[in-house]
Amino acid sequence: MVTIPEYYEGKNVLITGATGFMGKVLLEKLLRSCPGVKAAYVLVRPKAGQAPDARIADMINCKLFDRLREEQPDFAEKIMAVNSDLMQPDLDLSTKDQETLTGCVNIVFHCAATIRFNEPLKDAMQLNVLATQKMVSLAHRMKHLEVFIHVSTAYAHCDRELIEEVVYPPPVDYRKLIDTLEWMDDKLVSLITPKLLGERPNTYTYTKALAEHLVQQECGNLNIAIVRPSIVGASWKEPFPGWIDNFNGPSGIFIAAGKGILRTMRASNSAVADLVPVDVVINTTLAAAWYSGSQRHARPRNMLVYNCTTGGINPFHWGEVEYHVTSTFKRNPLEQAFRRPNVNLTTNHLINQYWIAVSHKAPAFLYDLFLRMSGREPRMMKTITRLHKAMMVLEYFTSHSWVWNTDNVTMLMNQMGAEDKKVFNFDVRQLHWAEYMENYCMGTKKYVLNEELSGLPAARKHLNKLRNIRYTFNTILVVLIWRIFIARSQMARNIWYFVVSLCFKFLSYFRASSTMRY
Ligand SMILES: NC(=O)c1ccc[n+]([C@@H]2O[C@H](COP(=O)([O-])OP(=O)(O)OC[C@H]3O[C@@H](n4cnc5c(N)ncnc54)[C@H](OP(=O)(O)O)[C@@H]3O)[C@@H](O)[C@H]2O)c1
Repeated sequence: MVTIPEYYEGKNVLITGATGFMGKVLLEKLLRSCPGVKAAYVLVRPKAGQAPDARIADMINCKLFDRLREEQPDFAEKIMAVNSDLMQPDLDLSTKDQETLTGCVNIVFHCAATIRFNEPLKDAMQLNVLATQKMVSLAHRMKHLEVFIHVSTAYAHCDRELIEEVVYPPPVDYRKLIDTLEWMDDKLVSLITPKLLGERPNTYTYTKALAEHLVQQECGNLNIAIVRPSIVGASWKEPFPGWIDNFNGPSGIFIAAGKGILRTMRASNSAVADLVPVDVVINTTLAAAWYSGSQRHARPRNMLVYNCTTGGINPFHWGEVEYHVTSTFKRNPLEQAFRRPNVNLTTNHLINQYWIAVSHKAPAFLYDLFLRMSGREPRMMKTITRLHKAMMVLEYFTSHSWVWNTDNVTMLMNQMGAEDKKVFNFDVRQLHWAEYMENYCMGTKKYVLNEELSGLPAARKHLNKLRNIRYTFNTILVVLIWRIFIARSQMARNIWYFVVSLCFKFLSYFRASSTMRY
């Protein structure tokens, strides 16, 4: 079999979602590690007054592309931005663009999706299901298509405990649901949504399950692979350890913990944290296309599913995540932390509510009061409310564990040559979690918050100041409570006198015995 870079040589690749977190890592890695690739067509919609070309030009200026820029200064010439909104009829492609794409594309990576967990069902269906249907239909018209990769999620079937690398029967027939949603108004849809979701926690996992079924039903004789990543985190090695550019999912939670805003979280210490580094997902995806594409004649109408997770192979628990995040941020603090990093994990709802009141709401209220008194705009309560919403959405995934079968991922790795295994490494058995978590946290500091490492001494000083404030505050609190007790209760007074006289006795005995020695 040809090597991965050899397979991509001279190929035209189409990517949806290239401006997203995973799409841009995919584009960068494809161009850098497969320099023979002919062109990468990226379907991009105009946004915030920016045309697709301008958006791509902005995107490739970011740090992620530094290494590629250094290695291949002309790489941008291979990127073809195509104006397309996946939610519009015919993907909003011009006739000319449709002709170009159907005439030349060899490999499709369909990454675009809405990853907002609680998107209204109609919107989630539009992008995750209907856009996938349009992409499959476009793929059928592509004359030279070798493989179509659909990026799904490992949680598409989170209503099961054991998730194999197969497409499971859908919760409902997507065709019927599409027809039903067409005539229903938004109010009615939101009323029936919980009933439709059943065991699933949100519209994201629900629509991703429907999309998988759609791909299976409508693929005809296309050569398909479905890649299912779990929770995608910062990169492990490439292009830089710890690279991350958004607050989504765990990154936002880590930052909130580092800032000392997040102090309690409903999660099971022992539940497996199915984090998977973004470069692992991208290497698996590129290799999946290589395998299905180069095997297309040997195994026609091939459909493979890859569970791209770490849980069953190199498990790591939420308790350990919490430990590494807080310890990294204690050693390398974020600037202007609100409190010292310290997070309490609990599965108990009542205990969590108690800590939310004591550790989140009370300090936020006091801080906002201080801001108001000093003539500034209060903001901490708003931040806390936003954080609670994000945590509620993640709670389901931090309190459950799943068993994933990863036989196809292992098979894929075994098919690769030694050099490909190095360049497109997705062997998570080699992942050292402590080191990865430290790089991840430092990545959020450097790439998401854009904080310079030269600011670390000042940040450490600030953290020490916060510790001293906490000690002083706790001491004053204890003294105050005690004074109130003493004033109100005879028993407290008696205990107080007893303790004080005991101290005096001890001191005088200590003084007497030390004078005797001289
Ligand atoms: N991130 C994770 O933890 C994770 C985990 C498992 C699976 N996945 C899957 O991986 C894929 C990529 O996720 P991600 O994290 O990269 O998501 P992301 O950062 O939110 O990116 C979504 C991409 O989809 C594009 N898009 C959205 N609506 C569009 C439209 N109407 N027309 C054209 N493009 C549109 C976005 O373009 P704009 O820039 O124009 O908005 C963006 O490029 C998704 O299929 C997701 O389900 C992600």
